[in-house]
Amino acid sequence: MKTIQEDSLAPLAQIARHRLLPILTVEDASRVGPLAEAFIGGGLPVVELTLRTPAALESIGRLAARGDVLVGAGTVRTAEQARAAVGAGARFLVTPACSVEVLEWARDHGVPVTPGCVTPSEVELARAHGCGTVKFFPASSFGGAATLRAYAAPLPDVGFIPTGGISFKTLPEYLALGNVVAVGGGWFASPEDIRNGCFGEIEQRVREAVALASPAVV
Ligand code: 3PG
Repeated sequence: MKTIQEDSLAPLAQIARHRLLPILTVEDASRVGPLAEAFIGGGLPVVELTLRTPAALESIGRLAARGDVLVGAGTVRTAEQARAAVGAGARFLVTPACSVEVLEWARDHGVPVTPGCVTPSEVELARAHGCGTVKFFPASSFGGAATLRAYAAPLPDVGFIPTGGISFKTLPEYLALGNVVAVGGGWFASPEDIRNGCFGEIEQRVREAVALASPAVV
């Protein structure tokens, strides 16, 4: 029988398996059906949906209800947002900053969280709250892959999910790093792509990214 802790860690293990974490901002919850199909079709049934629109919680709920896509909530800045997102069906939380309020809520409720960290001090704060995997954000503005390479020796037990300013072109340099758990970004599907119904293009982009990251998928 699985323990509660094993269940709560499972989402991060799934993200690590795929090595990619698409960040989606959805303005209209009716779009999540074809969007989910595009990600599933492309081979990546894992998404972070940001709490940046009024449609976010309903979109999370619709994705979670499908049962074939792992959905987490992004841009979580308060404990109340964390509670609402998990209530809607989010299985993991992503924060832009190392928010102690959210870290404590997630720890107390057994929900995996990857907090946004830039400096080693923020990484250690996250670790003190039980996080072994953190989001490195905004990656391209804070030294990119070179910074993560420098973190590998002094912070050997920390996994990173770099996001922010990463593109299809720079994806391989992050994937090559041993301390990168997964690479995140909005470049799989912009809000405009979703609004305009470009689901075929999104699926193709997902497929290409999956091919780049696939050696780790077993
Ligand atoms: C995030 O939420 O992590 C960023 O908005 C993703 O950044 P990108 O859109 O530059 O990929």
